[in-house]
Parts: sequence; C-alpha cells; structure tokens
Amino acid sequence: MSAPLEQRRHLATAIPGPRSVELMGRKRAAVAQGVGTTMPVFALEAGGGIVRDVDGNSFIDLGSGIAVTTIGNSAPRVVEAVRRQVEEFTHTCFMVTPYEGYVAVAESLNELTPGDHDKRTALFNSGAEAVENAVKIARAHTKKQAVVAFDHAYHGRTNLTMAMTAKSMPYKSGFGPFSPEVYRAPLSYPYRDAKSVDGQVAAQRAITYIEKQVGADNLAAVVIEPIQGEGGFIVPAEGFLSGLATWCTANNVVFIADEVQSGFARTGEMFACEHDHVVPDLIVTAKGIAGGLPLSAVTGRAEMMDAAHVSGLGGTYGGNPIACAAALATIETIQADGLVERARQIERLMLDRLSRLQADDDRLGDVRGRGAMIAVELVKSGTDEPDPQLASAIAVAAHQAGVIVLTCGTYGNVLRFLPPLSISDDLLIDGLDVVAEAMGATQ
Ligand SMILES: Cc1ncc(COP(=O)(O)O)c(C=O)c1O
Repeated sequence: MSAPLEQRRHLATAIPGPRSVELMGRKRAAVAQGVGTTMPVFALEAGGGIVRDVDGNSFIDLGSGIAVTTIGNSAPRVVEAVRRQVEEFTHTCFMVTPYEGYVAVAESLNELTPGDHDKRTALFNSGAEAVENAVKIARAHTKKQAVVAFDHAYHGRTNLTMAMTAKSMPYKSGFGPFSPEVYRAPLSYPYRDAKSVDGQVAAQRAITYIEKQVGADNLAAVVIEPIQGEGGFIVPAEGFLSGLATWCTANNVVFIADEVQSGFARTGEMFACEHDHVVPDLIVTAKGIAGGLPLSAVTGRAEMMDAAHVSGLGGTYGGNPIACAAALATIETIQADGLVERARQIERLMLDRLSRLQADDDRLGDVRGRGAMIAVELVKSGTDEPDPQLASAIAVAAHQAGVIVLTCGTYGNVLRFLPPLSISDDLLIDGLDVVAEAMGATQ
C-alpha cells in the first residue's frame, strides 16, 4: 500500500507543470476536443482533500470530481471492497447470471430513500441513463407521454436528457433535434424571483403553466433537482417542492427527484428532498453513490417501478459487481463515519466564511446552498447583473494557486464548492482563503 497522501496544498511548479503540458499536447492530438477539461493539470493520485498532479503539485479539492467522491478519493473501505470483488469476478451481467451485490444495493437504496412504502430499485451506469429510465418507468406506469423539466435544469447529455437540460451552450447547441414531449416550467429561484414569489406562489406559477400548456392528462412525470446542480446550486423556496409533489399525486403524475448531484449525504441529509420533507415517487441517484465507480439507480414506489415489463429495463453493465461492492462500502462509510453530520459542519464553516466576505463585497450577490454543496452567485457591483467573467477569473486564479474550484449556472456566474466530506477543516479554510484572495485581487 502506498503512503497516505500528505494533506497540504503545495506548488512544486508553475501551473501547469511540464509533465501536464506534455500530456495536454497528447490529449489534443488523441482526444476529441468536445471533451473539455476545467483544469490544465493531469491527476496522479488523490485522497482526503487533496489531488496531486503528475508534476508533484498538491491541489485542495473543492470539486470532488463534480460531486462524485463525496466520501473522499480511494476511500479505504471502497478500495478494499473493490479489491475483493475484482479477485472474485468482474462481470457476469446481472441479466444473465445475477449476483448478490446488486440485490444488496437495491435493498439499501429501498431502505435509505425517503418514504416507508414498498419500493424497488433498478441499477444503471450514469446519471443520464438513470434519468432516462425513470422517464421510461413513469411513461409505462401512467400510459402518458409528456415530461416537465424546469428552467436552469441539468439532467445529462443523452438525447432525452439533453432535451430536459435547459442550457444550450455547451450542452445542446448543434446536437438537435431533441426528444419530443419535453416541456419546461418556471423554477423557484429566490435570489432572482420578486420578493412576493414565495415557495407556494412559485409552485402555483409552475402548476398553472403545466395545466395550461401541457395538461395533466398528457403528463407522465415532473422531473426536478431538489437543489439544482449545473444550473447554479439554486435552492428553491420552502413550499415549492412540496407544492409540486402534492399536485403530482392529485393528478396521477409521477414526481421524480433527480438527486444525481444532491444525493448521498452531500447536502447534510442523505437526500436533499428530505430538507423539504418531500417523498418523491421515484428518486434518481448516481455520482456519490459508489465512491467514484460508475453506478446509478432509480428507486421508487413498487407499483410504479414494476410497471415496466420483464426485460424492459437493464443494460449490459448496469449494476456492475465492482460498482455495487463500492456502493455498499460507500454507504457503510457514510454511516460509520457520520458523514451526514460532517456535511452540516462543512456548511456552517463555509457559509460563515462566505457570508463575511459578502458583507464587504457586493459582487457576491448571493451565498447559498446546503451541506457541502455551497455556491456564490457573482454580479456586477451595485446590480444583480450576472458577471461570468468575474467567476471565471476567480476560478482560474484559484487553480493557479493550488485550489480546484468549479463554476456553473445558466449565466456562468456561479462559483460552486463541492468539497469531499473527508477534507479537514484546515484544508477547507486554506482553500477558502485562496478563493477570498483571488476575489480581492479582482477589485
Ligand atoms: C442533477 C444531475 N442529473 C443528471 C446528471 C447526469 O449525470 P451523468 O453525467 O452521470 O450522466 C448530472 C451530472 O452532472 C446532474 O448533476
């Protein structure tokens, strides 16, 4: 076993270093340009709150590989479970000769997700694939076709999920035509909504739109991220999600929570919809589910999940045995290490620091989020006009100083922080200091 990675930010070269520059040259020659990268450096090893690159630079990880390594990179229980599974078998295909790990993951998800009704689970590979399957299940159950997604939504890059995703560039532009029967409703966006638009009003606004422009008789599912991810870490006002869920139940519409980014302890609850006491009919999970291995799931009401006929769901790799072993080890780690509570501690630390920055700098238009899913929406001073250039300048300066930070948002003006829950307070504070310094330098 290699020595544990030193938990300290350290720059050994300019960023990028020579080895990364060389690899980037090979990437340009070998990899399609459509596959972009945020950072100009190549990873060598990662763990705790650090990603070390091929030139010996150690970066503070405030991105978790886009909310995936929530329990930390190469988390010990995951490493051990994967090693054991690889030695036993790597693949048989669950649809050919099934194995216990898949069933155990399904049992765990049925137990962990909100609601004490009878549930079933099906496993897939990516978040987008699971969202597609949730829609298939909702259509099979309701015998209806239309799907409603929301402003600022992100659900993936496959054809159906591109249609459901809101932002054109870079996700959709030039890739149409898109899947039909997808409609978009207005979201609750507390920072940008008028003061009079509370959660109930925003829910009624969306419902009126749905009733007038789609019609409940045609609508199979409402799909929503309980906290939007790529759209800008938008936390809807209280009452919005529950208002929609109640309307769905009354109208035979399946309420689907896309918890691909917000699930698995990330927000200080196991699932973000728990903050609003909402019990979705179907819940879609991926990313943080398996400590970095590709796995996704749809979990929900047994009568809905079982509406799809035998062999109507599946895929060659869905619920791969190694990914299932990793998921079971991930769930054990979250529970044994108290990581839901750790996410709440991280929320307190980050909101406190960022709110103090906001008090002195009106370009921090909004500081928001839950748990270890926190964001700052940047605007031009004295206005609420989005400032994507500022977000990008701060992110690049942070990268140069040894901190991995991501941007997001429909307007590209949101800095988002997704630290692994295995990060130390010292690293988190150092990372935020670097971001604060980068903000100061842009004044
Ligand atoms: C909310 C949400 N849904 C779906 C997806 C798509 O997941 P994947 O990239 O695994 O297909 C993402 C990815 O960022 C996401 O954040």
